[in-house]
Amino acid sequence: MKYATLHLSAILWLSLCALSQAKEVRLYTQRHYPADKEFFAQFTKDTGIEVKVIKAGANELLTRLESEKAAPQADLFITTDAGALDRADAAGLLDELDNKTLADRIPAGLQGKNGTWVPITMRARVIVYSKERAGNNLPKTYEDLADSQWKGRVLIRSSSNAYNQSLLASILAAEGRDAALAWAKGVTANMARPPQGNDRDQVRSVALGLGELAVVNTYYLGLLENADDPKDRAARAAVGVIFPNQAGRGAHVNVSGAGIVKGAKNRPHAVALLEFLTSKKIQASYQKMTSEFAVAEGIKPEPLQAKWGTFKPDLTSLHELAGHQEEAVKIFDLAGWK
Ligand SMILES: [Fe+2]
Repeated sequence: MKYATLHLSAILWLSLCALSQAKEVRLYTQRHYPADKEFFAQFTKDTGIEVKVIKAGANELLTRLESEKAAPQADLFITTDAGALDRADAAGLLDELDNKTLADRIPAGLQGKNGTWVPITMRARVIVYSKERAGNNLPKTYEDLADSQWKGRVLIRSSSNAYNQSLLASILAAEGRDAALAWAKGVTANMARPPQGNDRDQVRSVALGLGELAVVNTYYLGLLENADDPKDRAARAAVGVIFPNQAGRGAHVNVSGAGIVKGAKNRPHAVALLEFLTSKKIQASYQKMTSEFAVAEGIKPEPLQAKWGTFKPDLTSLHELAGHQEEAVKIFDLAGWK
C-alpha cells in the first residue's frame, strides 16, 4: 500500500515537472493572416515549441496585458502598429530584448527606441491613381491630396481605421496640429463619397470610375494582383503607385512588430520564435505570401513589389505615432471625416 502511494505521488510529481517545462510560447497578436499560422506550424515542427495564439485588437490586448501585469499570461506581443508597441513599452509591459541576432539583422531605425521591440514586417501607405483618368499633374505628397484640383476625386476609408489614424499621427508629428487639421479638412472636402469599405475597396472603386485617387497600404496591391477574382487583378492593373513625400520626410510606413512581455514565463522560447520570424527564409516568405516588406537586411523584394519602385520611408514619424494617435482621432472628428 505504502509502495503504491509512493508510486502515485512520483507519477504526479513527474507530470507536474512536465507541465512546468511545457515547451510553448503564449502569443497575443493582432495579426490575422493565414501565413502567420503556417509559420508558427513550421516553427513547432522545427523546435517542438508550441505557439498558443490569442488574437484580438491592439487596444484589447494592451488592456489585457495591463490587467495581467502581476501574473503575465503571455510571452510575446505582436501588433500591426509601432504606436501600439510604443504604448506597451511606455506602460512598462515589455522587457528589454538585449539580443544580438535581432539587433544585427534589423536596421536600427526600424527597431523600438528603447530596445523592447523589433519589427517583423513593414508596409507603406501609398497613393494610387487611375492610369486612365488622373491626368499628368499627379500628387507628390499626402498634402497634395488636400489640393482643390482633386475635389470630388479622392477615395479613402473611414477615420475609425487605424491605418488612417497612424497616417494623420505622422502628419501631426512632422507638421504640427494646424497643418494636420487643415489637411484633414482639405481631404474631407475632396472625397468622392463618404468613407466606406476597406483599402482594397478604394482601389476597386478607382477602377470602377468612382474617383481618380485612393490611399492604400502596399500589401493590398499585392493581394489584389494575386487575387483569384479577375476583377481584382484588373483593378490593380488600372492604377499606378505613388510613394508620397519622397523629396521630404518620406512615405508613411508602419510595422508589424513584437516585444517580449515583462515577466514572460517562456522567454527563451519567445526569443526563439522572434529569431525564426526574422530569419532570411521566413522574411522572404512573408514577402511572397502577404506582400508585406521584409525588415531583415539583405532580403530582395518580390518581383511584384519591385514594380512599385524603391522609396524613402518616414522613419522619424514611425517612432512618434504613439504620442499623436489620440489627437489624430480628435482632429478627424473636427474635420468631419466620417
Ligand atoms: Fe491590413
